[in-house]
Amino acid sequence: MENLKILFTEEQIQTRIKEIADEINQLYKDEEIIAICVLKGAVLFAVDLVKHLKMPLKMEFIRLSSYGHGTTSSGKVHAVDISLPDLNDKNVLIIEDIVDTGLTAKFLLDFINGNFKTKSTKFCSLLDKKISRATDVEPDYYGFEVDDKFLVGYGLDDEGYCRNLKYIGYKN
Ligand code: IMP
Ligand code: MG
Repeated sequence: MENLKILFTEEQIQTRIKEIADEINQLYKDEEIIAICVLKGAVLFAVDLVKHLKMPLKMEFIRLSSYGHGTTSSGKVHAVDISLPDLNDKNVLIIEDIVDTGLTAKFLLDFINGNFKTKSTKFCSLLDKKISRATDVEPDYYGFEVDDKFLVGYGLDDEGYCRNLKYIGYKN
């Protein structure tokens, strides 16, 4: 894509992911976790993060969508595929790309807490757009706080494109 300004380089992203992984490793020690990757946006982050996690771990993938078309949140979360195994008594780690309004995070947390009695539920997002929050949801872990700009790259898309970039940027 033309005229993209880089916000976080590949190196900055990977360094921060290792730091988050260290914190998560310390929290769970050797306890087993279920890491739930929220497709599609979180796929690159989830893949890189789990490589640094040391506890016994299973990965699950669910697909939610909220943005639809355009660059502002639709305000509605659509569960495209939310099939999950039994999460009762499990340590659940949700892995997201970005918390923006927080509606997606709230939807997912309500779904999990409404259907299961987990041992623990933690929410980890690479990016936190705190300024846009419309709910009281806060990630337990996040990589970087960002401004209210439409970001692309490293999983984040613009109409489906740019997810494959190794860096995160915005249109100038
Ligand atoms: P929320 O429900 O408003 O918190 O939005 C969460 C979802 O919107 C994220 O999982 C992303 O998929 C998408 N999203 C939010 N901000 C951006 C952005 O700046 N670029 C691309 N996608 C975004
Ligand atoms: Mg997402």
